Amino acid sequence: MKQYRFLALPILACALACGGEGDDKNNAFMAPGEDCVACHKSGGSAREAPFSAAGTVFASAMADPGSGLAGVSVILTDANDVETTLVSNAAGNFFTGAALALPLKKAAVLRNGQRTEMASAPEGACNRCHTQPPTGGASGRIHVP
Ligand code: HEC
Ligand code: HEC
Repeated sequence: MKQYRFLALPILACALACGGEGDDKNNAFMAPGEDCVACHKSGGSAREAPFSAAGTVFASAMADPGSGLAGVSVILTDANDVETTLVSNAAGNFFTGAALALPLKKAAVLRNGQRTEMASAPEGACNRCHTQPPTGGASGRIHVP
């Protein structure tokens, strides 16, 4: 009888806290290519870990979600010229909870000294527009130059 009680607790905790569909690992490598901030915001399923900016870097605008690139710098310049540099992890994901004044003046991707960037990013939910199929006028996923 006792075993059941110990088993029930973690299952109940996950039923309440595990929000990622088809993904049992809610961590920094989760859901590459998906709109992180849709969940990682107040009122979202990951409201305990809100992000001001997050996304995933790939080799091309059409890349598969599982092919994110590690070690790419993403440099955000906010409305007050405060610069935040993030580095993509093994899934290609980058994210920050640091306060950013919107709109971002620049959102740049830098690898091997080559840079590509957009001006006036309205929000930090990069993968909301940079997705497949693309939305918000973007040409697809965030990708290296
Ligand atoms: C469908 C909703 C959803 C999406 C989309 C999502 N996450 Fe999550 N994420 C969660 C949930 C739920 C947790 C667990 C939150 C908790 O522990 O409070 C989590 C946890 C995390 C954590 C661990 C946070 C901590 O403090 O322990 C990180 C880091 C993370 N996600 C990054 C990302 C990144 C990067 C993306 C986008 C590429 C992303 N997530 C997309 C729901 C989501
Ligand atoms: C509201 C939609 C939207 C959001 C949010 C958004 N972008 Fe963009 N992004 C665009 C559009 C539109 C372009 C210009 C068309 C293109 O090249 O994809 C662009 C272009 C870019 C480029 C240049 C792409 C290239 O082809 O050289 C980079 C880099 C970029 N965005 C990074 C980011 C990052 C990082 C974020 C998050 C901080 C972000 N974007 C958020 C819409 C968006």
